[in-house]
Amino acid sequence: MTALTVTLALVATAALLLRWQRPAWYWMSFGVVFAMVRILARYASVMDACGLTVPPSRWRLTLARMTGRPIPDSRAPRILRLRPTRTGLVLRVKLRPGQDAFDFSAASDRLRHSFVMQNVTAREVRSGVVELRMTGYDVLKRVQMPAAAARAGVMRVPVAMREDGEVYYRDYRQTPHALNVGATQSGKSVYQRNLVAALAPLDVALVGIDCKQGVELAPLARRFTALGYNPDAAADLLDALVEHMEDVYQLIRREQRLSADLPDAEITADIWDLPDHLRPTPIVLLVDEVAELALFATKEEEKRRDRIITSLVRLAQLGRAAGIYLEICGQRFGSELGKGITMLRAQLTGRTAHRVNDETSANMAFGDIAPDAVLATVQIRTDRPGTAVASDSSGGWVRIRTPHLTLRRAVNIANSHAHRTPEIPALDAFRPVLPPLGKAAAPSAVTAPAIV
Ligand SMILES: Nc1ncnc2c1ncn2[C@@H]1O[C@H](COP(=O)(O)OP(=O)(O)O)[C@@H](O)[C@H]1O
Ligand SMILES: [Mg+2]
Repeated sequence: MTALTVTLALVATAALLLRWQRPAWYWMSFGVVFAMVRILARYASVMDACGLTVPPSRWRLTLARMTGRPIPDSRAPRILRLRPTRTGLVLRVKLRPGQDAFDFSAASDRLRHSFVMQNVTAREVRSGVVELRMTGYDVLKRVQMPAAAARAGVMRVPVAMREDGEVYYRDYRQTPHALNVGATQSGKSVYQRNLVAALAPLDVALVGIDCKQGVELAPLARRFTALGYNPDAAADLLDALVEHMEDVYQLIRREQRLSADLPDAEITADIWDLPDHLRPTPIVLLVDEVAELALFATKEEEKRRDRIITSLVRLAQLGRAAGIYLEICGQRFGSELGKGITMLRAQLTGRTAHRVNDETSANMAFGDIAPDAVLATVQIRTDRPGTAVASDSSGGWVRIRTPHLTLRRAVNIANSHAHRTPEIPALDAFRPVLPPLGKAAAPSAVTAPAIV
């Protein structure tokens, strides 16, 4: 008897310790079982309390009256499936007549408290079926990406964790260009670093413009095909990219061969339809602190600025089919940066907003697509850097947080994939000057923690 008590006490202590220190492990060992039992046991009463039941149908009332039985209870939506996941549970329910998916989204906060879950989101799977995604613990507190996320596909990379426990992917073929705004210290550069680390193993050329004299991107230079550290270099680099884009279009034109016997599906209009041996390497252009490119003090600088913005607009308008994708980071990105900026912004489909200090900055990312995301953006806590609101493929928005990838780890990843760095002849003049490799002699790797 005492042995049993001691064992039980030990298990309970272990569970409490895990819950406190390692919520992810707790969830996978104890939490998931408790949560499933709790949900199944309380389901009917919670649905009733949250106003998600419907009164009995007429024929059941009539039947009860005819047979002299008591009047039947209200009915809760039928459970189709309850599936555990790495971070929570997925509950699929079949709606009763008269219910809609909005009822469930509106009740998600009440459901969260009633089922004692961290977060509940509802989405319609198909007509009449709603899926409730629940997370068992705060997945954004200490972000751990699942190992399986790394195998993501062509030009689709995992960058962050979503609030509902799913992985947030940046899919360049679906959303070619993206804008990333946020106040200083909000986690933009860490987001960009995560992107570089995720893109490093792929067959892609990375081109960077970092007007902070390269403090963010220079340490990762081994994986970069071209880098520009100031507005002058950026202007020339962008011109070269536009030229490269035109060459790629010439190549696609040559390969189109619109003859009558060519099947429709084989006619190319972008690089992905070209045969493998002819396909130019796709390019991701990362711009950190874009405002630096748009500011000017003298007439000369104004000319340079116009050149830069024109090139960026051209790349954003025409780059996708040539496999050139833009990823633009900045603290603000509004019309006060001068002409051409809103035109460029209109081309940047993907939006991510880290914490901002005022509503106008949030409006620059979401004002024109999702007004309710603006509110979510200004509410991001200061003690959670790296948290952001991002537009998702379904046209809505989600809260995400990047894993904290230190500069040292990012440097190691970039260096280990350095052999993949492709050479693009048009960008040869901008190839970064590399520090010598080796433990003692790699200044970028050694000084990395100081920069973080
Ligand atoms: N996902 C994250 N998790 C934990 N800390 C983070 C995360 N992202 C950023 N930080 C912290 O916030 C600080 C600022 O991030 P940074 O990306 O340099 O901001 P920004 O480029 O927006 O000024 C970093 O030094 C880092 O310590
Ligand atoms: Mg930064």
